[in-house]
Order: sequence, then C-alpha cells, then structure tokens
Amino acid sequence: MKNVSRLPRLYGELSSWWPILSAPEDYAEEAQFYRRLIVSECSNPPETLLELACGGGNNASHLKKYFRMTLVDLSPDMLVVSHSLNPECEHIQGDMRTVRLGQQFDAVFIHDGIVYMTSERDLRQAIETAYVHCKPGGVALFAPDHTRETFRSSTKHGGHDSRDWSMRYLEWTWDPDPGDTTYFTDFAYLLRDADGQVRCEYDRHLCGLFGQQDWLRIISEAGFRARAVPFEHSEIELGSCEVFTGLKPPAKSQQEGWMSNTLCSTLSSILTDTGEIEKQECCACCKRRELINAKSQRCGSDLVCRGAGTTRYKLPPTL
Ligand SMILES: C[S@@+](CC[C@H](N)C(=O)[O-])C[C@H]1O[C@@H](n2cnc3c(N)ncnc32)[C@H](O)[C@@H]1O
Repeated sequence: MKNVSRLPRLYGELSSWWPILSAPEDYAEEAQFYRRLIVSECSNPPETLLELACGGGNNASHLKKYFRMTLVDLSPDMLVVSHSLNPECEHIQGDMRTVRLGQQFDAVFIHDGIVYMTSERDLRQAIETAYVHCKPGGVALFAPDHTRETFRSSTKHGGHDSRDWSMRYLEWTWDPDPGDTTYFTDFAYLLRDADGQVRCEYDRHLCGLFGQQDWLRIISEAGFRARAVPFEHSEIELGSCEVFTGLKPPAKSQQEGWMSNTLCSTLSSILTDTGEIEKQECCACCKRRELINAKSQRCGSDLVCRGAGTTRYKLPPTL
C-alpha cells in the first residue's frame, strides 16, 4: 500500500545533508528559465515572488537577485537550511495547502515540492493557495517533476563533497500502480562524516502524478488562465517535461482602462464597412501573450488579440 504520511527523512533529521545532495549551483540554468517565464507571463513587471515549498532555497538563491522573495516551507529544518543560504529573504513555516499570509505577490512559484501533493484534493488546495496569494494580473508557476504522460521509471545517482562531509545517493523512481495519482521515489544515501565514517540511510518519497489535462483543469478551476509550457534545459530532452502557468485575470478596473486606451478610443476613426478593424500596432496585450479573449466594457464587442502586432476587433452589427 502506498502510504507515507510523514515528510521524507531528507526534510527532517537528514536536512543538513540537503546542500550536498542538491547543490545551489545546480539550479542556475533552470532558475533562469523560471525567471523568464514569470516575467513574460505577468501583466506588469513582477517585483515580489512568493515561493511555496522552497526547500533548501536553491532556486531562491538565484531568483532573489530579481525579485523580493518570501519563502514558505512545511519543514522547519529546511527553512533553517534555506535561511543560511538566503538570509535576506523572509522565511515562514507553513503548509502550501492551508497557509494564508494575508498579502498578495506579483508571482507565486511552486517548484518540485508540488510533487508532495499526492491527491487531487491536495493539489487543488495548493493551487488555491497560489491563487489567493497572487495579485490580479500576476502569475503562478508550477513545476512538477513529471506528468502522467511524461513519467518514466528511472534511476539516477549523484551527490557532492563539502569541506568536511560527503554524500552520494541512488534515486529510484517507479510507479507500482499506474492507475492511481502517486508514484515512489526511493533514495539510498551514503553519508560520510568528517572522520571518514560512512553510513547508509534509506528514505521513501511518496509523490503525486497527474495528467496534463488534470493540471490544466485544476488550475483553471482555481480561477487562473492555465497554460502548459515545455521545460527548456540543456540537460533535458525538449518535450520530456513541462511546467504549468496560471495567469490571474487582471482586476476589472485594469481591464477597462486597457480597453479604453487600446480599443474604444480609436473606434470611430478605424471602423470599416465589413465591421472589422485591423490595427497594425502592438497593444499591451499582444506583447504579453499570444491569444486573449476579452469583452470590451464600452462597446460590448469581442476583442481577439492574434499576437505579433496585429489586433482584430470583431464589432457587433449594431455599431
Ligand atoms: C525538493 S524540496 C524543494 C527544493 C527547492 N525546489 C529548492 O529550490 O531548494 C521539497 C520541499 O517541499 C516541502 N514540502 C512538502 N510538503 C509540503 C507542504 N505540504 N507544504 C509546504 N512545503 C512542503 C518539503 O518540506 C521540502 O522542503
């Protein structure tokens, strides 16, 4: 039976080994991918970033150069590890399913810690937490290790040396029951201390596995506009992994302001006989994303941005 209710040992009694299992420098390239994605998806330049399940703060150690970051994790031990790497960031202990900080951020990020959501109910709660803490016009980014479609059983090994300690690990990812929403990652850690003594520890991680359509549906149901994005990394085959973004729709007042600037104020001068207007210039929306459907507040028309600098307004017959 797949039942692991506690946090893996790596995030508790073994947490001080985390930085030599998973070194901050190994995250530099992926952190840049996440940064670019967050910036390109947000409606306004993002300044504040909430990371849920920050772990040892490895991604944060790169992202904090670009954003003012607040870091949340369930494990007090992992917060200690992250705080020593990122003392300038705010650290808060909390569960990504239930934590409520009473403030909103330009962007919310949940990296691989999202895999500890092992049921649809847990995943939904975590995504709702992201929604509650995301400003209108902001974005949430979710980066699971696998989706149901991309999951493959695998073995990996790695580890690093510090001045006094060394560790090597074997990581074995497998799924005994493809019909449910979980899989296992079993770890064997070889831990060598300053005296040269080596001990071996075993640790089972119970992880969640959901299909792409489930991700998109749950993110949409939380209120976001959901998108799947291929993960780009020099060591990972393109298409073998994807991340998910949720854009929180801008507040109505923001939409109205934008509409009146880009649509309604120019209506009379560019209306054609066919009832369609094509305008060869980039609106704020086109710069941000490829396709958006929105209702104009003033003329009631449907606005469809087709990207690449072309905005087509479909006008109702009465105009
Ligand atoms: C692999 S580590 C994250 C490492 C991180 N991506 C980094 O850049 O260093 C996963 C983290 O998820 C945390 N976690 C697991 N369940 C959680 C929950 N319900 N709420 C918040 N954090 C959780 C664990 O405590 C652990 O620190």
